[in-house]
Amino acid sequence: MFESPLAESIIARALDKGLVEIELHDPRDMAHDRHRKVDDYAFGGGPGMVMKPEPLFESVETLHASSEERDGVPVILLTPQGRTLTQGVVEELAQRREMVLICGRYEGIDERVRRHLVTDEISIGDYVLSGGELAALVLIDAVARLIPGVVGSAESTQGGSFTTGLLQHPQYTRPAQFRDWAVPDVLLSGNHTEIARWRRRESLRRTAERRPDLLDSMDLSAEERRFIEELRRD
Ligand code: 6GU
Repeated sequence: MFESPLAESIIARALDKGLVEIELHDPRDMAHDRHRKVDDYAFGGGPGMVMKPEPLFESVETLHASSEERDGVPVILLTPQGRTLTQGVVEELAQRREMVLICGRYEGIDERVRRHLVTDEISIGDYVLSGGELAALVLIDAVARLIPGVVGSAESTQGGSFTTGLLQHPQYTRPAQFRDWAVPDVLLSGNHTEIARWRRRESLRRTAERRPDLLDSMDLSAEERRFIEELRRD
């Protein structure tokens, strides 16, 4: 589940350049029995298997030479019960030199892992995935993009929609006329002040229409507030 997503595009280049290092560990390698068992029935009964504590503890504990070396390294469990991943959380994680991600499975994980090994729990949104692997890849991608040098300057100038706190304005490329649909004149005008103003307004419009919740916590000028008020009245 990890190899091919990590072998593409921006992440692959970051790994290649040594800007990011990712190690994959299979808890099964830490299982003690010959069936390499990592889950078991739930005490108390019921359907669904629960991940055993020993392989997860041992996997994490062997990553570092000593417990001192592991001090302060976040051990993050990917689980729908965690706090939701937002760009703010991504920015916080991007400050870390190192982190351990544990991919839980939906059915569950022994509570002692959560209580005594894990330091943080993260979800990528309110829907159910079969396991934490895809969530870990989402987190890795979002965090890696913020590491200096990972995203080229050409790509970074556009930034993510969330670097400004607004959704991105509409984008166009050639041809200027496609079927019945023309590119807005202002974008062809060469007037960069007007273009910047148009883009900012379109970002505001799109955010007001689709994600009005994002506007509440934003610093907007009086003119921008008035513009949004007008949109609302319309
Ligand atoms: Cl982190 N794990 C699973 N299994 N489902 C999820 C999730 C994580 N985030 C959203 N849904």
